[in-house]
Amino acid sequence: MAIHQQNFGFFISHITHFFLFLHLFIYFFISPVSSQAWDGIIVTSSNFQALQAVKQELIDPKGFLRSWNDTGYGACSGRWLGIKCAKGQVIVIQLPWKSLSGRISDKIGQLQALRKLSLHDNFITGSIPSTLGILPDLRGVQLFNNKLTGSVPASLGSCPSLQTLDLSNNLLTGTIPESLVNSSKLIRLNLSFNSISGFIPVSFTHSNSLTFLALQHNNLSGSIPDSWGSTGENKLQYFTLDHNHLSGTIPVSLSKLSELQEVSFSHNLITGSIPNDIGKVTMVRKLDFSYNAINGNLPVSLFSNMSSLVMLNLKRNKLSGTIPDSVGNISSLVQLDLSENELSGQIPFSLTNLSGLSSLNVSYNNLSGLVPVLLSQKFNSSSFVGNIQLCGYTGSTPCLSPNPPSSGHKHTSGHNHRKLSTKDIILIAAGALLIVLFILCCILITCLVRKKTTSKQGQTTTRSGLKGTSPPVGVDVESGENGAEIMGKSTYGTVYKATLEDGSQVAVKRLREKIMKTPREFENEVTALGKIRHPNLLALRAYYLGPKGEKLLVFDYMPKGSLSTFLHARGPEMPIAWPTRMRIVKGITRGLLHLHTRENIIHGNLTSSNVLLDDDTQAKITDFGLSRLMTAAANANIVATAGALGYRAPEFSKLKKANTKTDVYGIGVIILELLTGKSPGEGMNGMDLPQWVASIVKEEWTNEVFDLELMKDASSISDELLNTLKLALHCVDPSPSARPEVQQVLQQLEEIRADTPPSSTPS
Ligand SMILES: *[C@@H]1O[C@H](CO)[C@@H](O)[C@H](O)[C@H]1NC(C)=O
Ligand SMILES: *[C@@H]1O[C@H](CO)[C@@H](O)[C@H](O)[C@H]1NC(C)=O
Ligand SMILES: *[C@@H]1O[C@H](CO)[C@@H](O)[C@H](O)[C@H]1NC(C)=O
Ligand SMILES: *[C@@H]1O[C@H](CO)[C@@H](O)[C@H](O)[C@H]1NC(C)=O
Ligand SMILES: *[C@@H]1O[C@H](CO)[C@@H](O)[C@H](O)[C@H]1NC(C)=O
Ligand SMILES: *[C@@H]1O[C@H](CO)[C@@H](O)[C@H](O)[C@H]1NC(C)=O
Repeated sequence: MAIHQQNFGFFISHITHFFLFLHLFIYFFISPVSSQAWDGIIVTSSNFQALQAVKQELIDPKGFLRSWNDTGYGACSGRWLGIKCAKGQVIVIQLPWKSLSGRISDKIGQLQALRKLSLHDNFITGSIPSTLGILPDLRGVQLFNNKLTGSVPASLGSCPSLQTLDLSNNLLTGTIPESLVNSSKLIRLNLSFNSISGFIPVSFTHSNSLTFLALQHNNLSGSIPDSWGSTGENKLQYFTLDHNHLSGTIPVSLSKLSELQEVSFSHNLITGSIPNDIGKVTMVRKLDFSYNAINGNLPVSLFSNMSSLVMLNLKRNKLSGTIPDSVGNISSLVQLDLSENELSGQIPFSLTNLSGLSSLNVSYNNLSGLVPVLLSQKFNSSSFVGNIQLCGYTGSTPCLSPNPPSSGHKHTSGHNHRKLSTKDIILIAAGALLIVLFILCCILITCLVRKKTTSKQGQTTTRSGLKGTSPPVGVDVESGENGAEIMGKSTYGTVYKATLEDGSQVAVKRLREKIMKTPREFENEVTALGKIRHPNLLALRAYYLGPKGEKLLVFDYMPKGSLSTFLHARGPEMPIAWPTRMRIVKGITRGLLHLHTRENIIHGNLTSSNVLLDDDTQAKITDFGLSRLMTAAANANIVATAGALGYRAPEFSKLKKANTKTDVYGIGVIILELLTGKSPGEGMNGMDLPQWVASIVKEEWTNEVFDLELMKDASSISDELLNTLKLALHCVDPSPSARPEVQQVLQQLEEIRADTPPSSTPS
C-alpha cells in the first residue's frame, strides 16, 4: 500500500474512480443492449420537436439519422440511433464518428433533461449553441474534432452540473469566458487546438473541482494567473498550456497544487526563474517547461523532493549554474532533457544512479569535465555534443584531465589543462607497454585453446539434446547475415529468417555477445530451455555456439509475426474478430501458466512484441528464460527498456526484480491492447494504457474505450467485453498483491468465454 500511495497516486485515483463509477458504467454500457433499460415511454412533444430540428440542421451523408423517422414520437423506443431517454425525455445524444456536418440547432436547449451531448469526430460547423447553458442536468459535452467556429459560449458556465467540456480541435476563436469554470462540478476542460486568444481567466485558479485543464495550441497571451490554491482544496492534476504566446513567469503558487501530476508550458514566452518552491508539488510525474526563456539556476528542491518525476524537459531555455547532485535522487526518472541552456560545471556522477533513465540530453550547454563512463556507454554523442569542454564520450575530444570523478563529490574546476611531466609520460608509456604485452599473451593463449576446441564446437547443436540436428545452414555465422533476412531486433539480439537444407524455415536469433554469460554456463542454461515444450511457448529447436563465441538460437518460424504487428500494423480491411482476440489471450495465459508453475520461470518482459502467432493465429510466447543466459547487468538494461514501452508494472521501479505478478501486469496490458486496439507505446496525454482506460471509464464513456471494430458486434458480446475489461483492470492493479495469479486469470477468461473448437474442425 505504501508504494502506491507515494508514487502511484495518479494511477490509484483513476482506478478507485473506476470502481466508484462502475455502476454508472454498467448502466451506460448495458443499456443500449438490454431492452428493459430502454425507456419506451413516448417522448414529450417539446423533446420530439427539438430532435427534429437537430436532425434538420445536421447534414447526414451516410444516413445514420434515417432511424429518426417515425412521426409517432418513437424517439424513446430504442430505435433512434444515439438517443437515450428517461421518463420520455432525452438524456443522451451520442453520435460520434458519423460523418455529420451542418450545424447544431439552437433548439437543443429544449431538451431540458439532456445530460450528455457527444458529437465528437464529425465535420460539424457553425457555432456552439449558447442555449446549452440553460440545461440544468448537462454533465458532459464532447464536441472535439469538428469544425466549430465562433467563441466558447459564456453561458456554459451557468450549467450547474457540467463535469466535462471538451471542445478541442475545432476552429474556435474569441476569448475564454471568465465564468466558464463557475460550475462547481467541472472536472475536465479541454479547449486545446483552437485559435482562442486573450488571457487565462484568474477565476480558473479558484476552482475546487477542475482536474484536467488543457489549453495547448491556442493563441493565448498574457501571463499565467498566480493565485492557485488560494481557496483551499485544489484538484488540478493535469495542466497543459504549450504552444501559446504566454509570457510572464512560472506562477509561484503552482507549488500549492499538491495533486499536480503533469505540467506542460512548453513553446511559450515565459521568462524569470523556476520558483524554489516548485519541489513542493511532489506528485508531479511530468514537468515540461521547454522552449521558453526561463533563466536562473536549477532549484535544488526540484530534484530533492519530486520523488515521482518521470519526465523533466527544460530544453531550450536560458538556465545557468550547475546541475545539482540531487538529480541522482529521483529514482523514477526516465527522461531528462536539459539541452540548449547555459548550464556549466560537470555532469553529476549521481546521474549514473538512475537505472531507469532511458533518455538523456545535456547537449549544447557550457558543461565541462568528464562524462561519467556509465552514461557515455548508455547514451551516444547526440546527448552530449555542443559542450566544448566536455570530454569522455564517443566522438568527443580526448580527456586531458586525469581525474575522472569516481564518487558523488563534485570537482570544483571542471577541466584541468595540466601539462604532463616527463615522469608522467614515462609512467604512462610503461603502463601502455604492459597492457599491450598482456593483450598479446591473451590472444596467444586463446588461439591455442581455440585450435583444440574448434573441431568440437560448431557441432554442439547435435550433442545438446535439443531436437534440431543440423546446424543452422543458410546462416553464415561469420557475418551472421548472409542468406538470412533480418526479421527484427529484440533486446536480446537480432532475429533472422533462415532456410534449412530441407527447405523448412526457421528463425535464428543471434544473441548479443557482450552481454552473455560464459560458454559453459550458457550451454547448461540453453539445454534446459530447449526442453521446454508447450503449445503456447515458442520452441527452442537448436542452438549453435560458434568458435568465435557467436551464440545462435534456432526457433520455429512464425509467419504471422508478432501480436503487436498483427494488431497494430494492419489496415481497416483486416478486422480481428472478438473470438480470435479471446483465443490469443487465453493462449498467452496458458503459456504463462506453464512457465510459472511447471518451469519456475518468470518472463519479466511480457509484451505484445514477445507474443508470436502461428498459422492458426495461436499465440506463442517468446523470449522467456533468455535472461538466464545473460549477465545480471545486461538484464537490468532490458528491464528498463520494457518500461519505456509501456509495459512496466508500477512496483518495478522500486523492486527492480520481476515476479509472477509482474507478468500478470503484462497480461493485463496485452488484454487492454486487444480490447482497445491501442498500442501501449502510443501517446495518450502522457498516460499509459491502463491509466487511459481508467480515465475514460471514469468519464462514463466506456463504450468508447473499446476498439471500434468490436463495437459492431456489441449487442452479442457486450457482457464478454465488459467482464474482460474488468479482469484486465484487475491485472493492472497498481498493487501487485491485489492482482490475480495467472491460474485465476485463465479460469476467469474461461468463464467469460467458453472455448470454441477451431474453425477447421466442425463440432
Ligand atoms: C424507421 O427506421 C427504422 C430503422 O432504420 C426502420 O426499421 C423502419 O422501417 C423505419 N420506418 C419507417 C416508417 O420508415
Ligand atoms: C484535449 O484534447 C486534445 C485534442 O483533442 C487531446 O489530444 C488531449 O488528449 C485532450 N486532453 C484532455 C486532458 O482531455
Ligand atoms: C493567432 O496568433 C497568430 C500569431 O500571433 C496570428 O498570426 C493569428 O492571426 C492569430 N489567430 C487568430 C485567429 O487570432
Ligand atoms: C562557460 O564556462 C566557462 C567556465 O567553465 C566560463 O569561463 C565561460 O564564460 C562560460 N561561457 C558561457 C557562454 O557561459
Ligand atoms: C543517438 O541516439 C538517439 C536516441 O537515443 C538516436 O535517435 C540517434 O539516431 C543516435 N545518434 C547516433 C549518431 O547514433
Ligand atoms: C539533444 O538535443 C539536441 C539539440 O536540440 C538534438 O540535436 C539532439 O538530437 C538531442 N539528442 C537526443 C539524444 O535527444
